[in-house]
Amino acid sequence: MKIQNICCLGAGYVGGPTMSVIALKCPEIKVTVVDLNQARIDAWNDENLDNLPVYEPRLAEVVAEARGRNLFFSTDVDAAIDAADMIFIAVNTPTKTYGEGKGMAADLKFVELCARQIARIAKNDKIIVEKSTLPVRTAETLQTILESTGCGVHFEVLSNPEFLAEGTAIEDLFNADRVLIGGKQTPKGKEAIQALVDVYAHWLTPKQILTTNVWSSELSKLTANAFLAQRISSINALSALCEATEANVDEVANAIGTDSRIGPKFLKASVGFGGSCFQKDILNLVYLCRYFNLPEVADYWEQVIILNDYQKSRFAKNIISSLFNTVSDKKITFLGWAFKKDTNDTRESAAIYVADYLIEDGAQIHVYDPKVSEAKIKADMAYLWELKGLTEQKITSKLKQIFVYNTSMAALHQAHAVAVLTEWEEFKTYDWKTIYINMFKPAFVFDGRNILDSEQLTAIGFRVKGIGKG
Ligand code: NAD
Ligand code: UGA
Repeated sequence: MKIQNICCLGAGYVGGPTMSVIALKCPEIKVTVVDLNQARIDAWNDENLDNLPVYEPRLAEVVAEARGRNLFFSTDVDAAIDAADMIFIAVNTPTKTYGEGKGMAADLKFVELCARQIARIAKNDKIIVEKSTLPVRTAETLQTILESTGCGVHFEVLSNPEFLAEGTAIEDLFNADRVLIGGKQTPKGKEAIQALVDVYAHWLTPKQILTTNVWSSELSKLTANAFLAQRISSINALSALCEATEANVDEVANAIGTDSRIGPKFLKASVGFGGSCFQKDILNLVYLCRYFNLPEVADYWEQVIILNDYQKSRFAKNIISSLFNTVSDKKITFLGWAFKKDTNDTRESAAIYVADYLIEDGAQIHVYDPKVSEAKIKADMAYLWELKGLTEQKITSKLKQIFVYNTSMAALHQAHAVAVLTEWEEFKTYDWKTIYINMFKPAFVFDGRNILDSEQLTAIGFRVKGIGKG
């Protein structure tokens, strides 16, 4: 079976970049990305490529080449479903904020709505591809919903989780370590798997394309994220011990990373991992383990999250204790708000939680991030406080403790302390001598990413505290 028409439900951080790359690499396939959010679709269609809703290096050039040729963005979901042979579901699957499984389970309502809409619209056989990250056995639920109308259309459900990381999405898609495709081991299932293999084979080698049964594929995605996050929590746990013993966590990471069995990647100690997925996917894994009556396994993975929360609050507490036990009315400048460099995504960014902690102690938080707007920063904080149950009045009052700047120098002027929350390259290139002159003394730098040259800053006069450095 040769795929000619692809539709993707969800034009977010995954749907947008993945479909842009598929369209670029498969010029004979028409790819339509649809979303319910009109503003998002308008931004994907914006003439000015600086206004794309997702910032990713090289994304604009990919969109520029494919858009209007065989790549389209639209809000006409029904028409796109109707025309497609293959439908990707790439909608959000956040942690539930209500009811059964609140705070742990993945909220599958958006995925379910997609399945119902597909079932209602489809008039001919379709391959449905789970691109969103889903709990193991979701394909069973999808199949049941898709078949519920009894209209005689055949739906073949595949699992094809996405492994791209934000900030390197295009690079990751062009040169994927692997693409994983899970499907039923029936003749029709195998045919559907092959159809999707053929799409990826436009630019990836057979070695890069793994095929498995559906459940292994679904579970591999949660497992991959759990293992990655576990490495960060492991090195972050050791960073606390380094601080107590004058060991240097970067040296320890380097020393263990040269063991080929451990490897050097994902051992960078930090203020804590953020992003839309690690926390939600591990919470989901923990929930699943409890559901399947495996409490010891659940507790094991939950510790990765507990440690990450500890790391964020440890960083904030360290700022307060270093600034003579109070930050009340002090100007603390945050360099960076995004959860990592080279993205405008702020979901679950450590900056949000560190800011909350310091604001509670009376601090004034002054923020500069090259890609994140004032509106986004304030919305992030308001959302957290809403979840915590604060009144609207209290939220409005707390928001007055946040100031956002378009330039770093304005944000840093007359600050008591600087905290590096995101590892943007430009922070390393600043004129730290001038920054020092314009700050209150003693001037503190809390490097939550260990990116600055601490010896050079100390020579200038700063009091520097990195992560995991005694
Ligand atoms: P996102 O919030 O950026 O995008 C999801 C989009 O889906 C939104 O624009 C939303 O409006 C749209 N949507 C919701 N319901 C819809 C419907 N019924 N029809 C059409 N559109 C609908 O989310 P994301 O970051 O792209 O993540 C999507 C999925 O991919 C999640 O399951 C996530 O866990 C997974 N994932 C994300 C990443 C990442 O780096 N962000 C990487 C791998 C996997
Ligand atoms: C992560 C995974 O790396 C992707 O493979 C996966 O597809 C994706 O989640 C997902 O499912 O959403 P992402 O969250 O975009 O990708 O970015 P990462 O590079 O993994 O970084 C996550 C967080 O960990 C960031 O806050 C980063 O700063 C932090 N981190 C990463 C560290 O603190 N130390 C490290 O050594 C690496």
